[in-house]
Amino acid sequence: MMTRGLLISVEGPEGAGKTSVVAELLPKLRAYGDVTMTREPGGVPIAEKIREVILDTEHTNMDDKTELLLYIAARRQHLKERVLPALSSGQIVLVDRFIDSSVAYQGFGRGLNPSDVDWLNQFATDGLVPDLTLYFDIDVKLGLDRIAKTRGHEVNRLDLEGIDLHERVRQGYLSILEKNPERFVLVDASQPLDLVVSDAWTIIEDRFFKDSL
Ligand code: TYD
Repeated sequence: MMTRGLLISVEGPEGAGKTSVVAELLPKLRAYGDVTMTREPGGVPIAEKIREVILDTEHTNMDDKTELLLYIAARRQHLKERVLPALSSGQIVLVDRFIDSSVAYQGFGRGLNPSDVDWLNQFATDGLVPDLTLYFDIDVKLGLDRIAKTRGHEVNRLDLEGIDLHERVRQGYLSILEKNPERFVLVDASQPLDLVVSDAWTIIEDRFFKDSL
């Protein structure tokens, strides 16, 4: 049935709990095929090195355009080395952050020109768009509180930003939602984890596996 595999991305502001949800979705997806689970920025050695440069807390003077270009470079390498081969062998690829993170963080968050971000995303991906994006939505303060409480969270350069940036990021995601209601689907991440997982799974199942139920 699947000739080209499936690309599912997950997005959300800090503290939405994406990573925990993804861990629970993984075994459920495996019932339907081979799954590659990966993340951006990173996922392959060259992109992991770029990740270190981007997220280094000492790089306080990083220019916004430099930041965007580094995320885009990491995206390109990860796509070529990891995502495309998995898709062409028919796998389900679950990626933790993808094109929409650049729109939300560098576009809306940093205030870079949205059409530049769109164009660079297209350049990096040759126009590949996910089949589905799960957007884990959470109030910014609630999300940041969660991070402060729950994780032995490695603090990165973007975590050190003020709440204003994170508010703009969330508004960015909500604006992507408005423009892409088919692809980009909101999950209420303020709920307890088991409900977030079951909502997310229902969306995936309805969209892709309904016929095989
Ligand atoms: P990470 O620790 O992976 O964060 P999270 O667990 O929230 O996904 O760090 C990735 C950071 O990079 C995160 O703050 C979001 C940011 N980011 C961008 O600003 N633009 C992008 O294009 C991507 C992929 C991530």
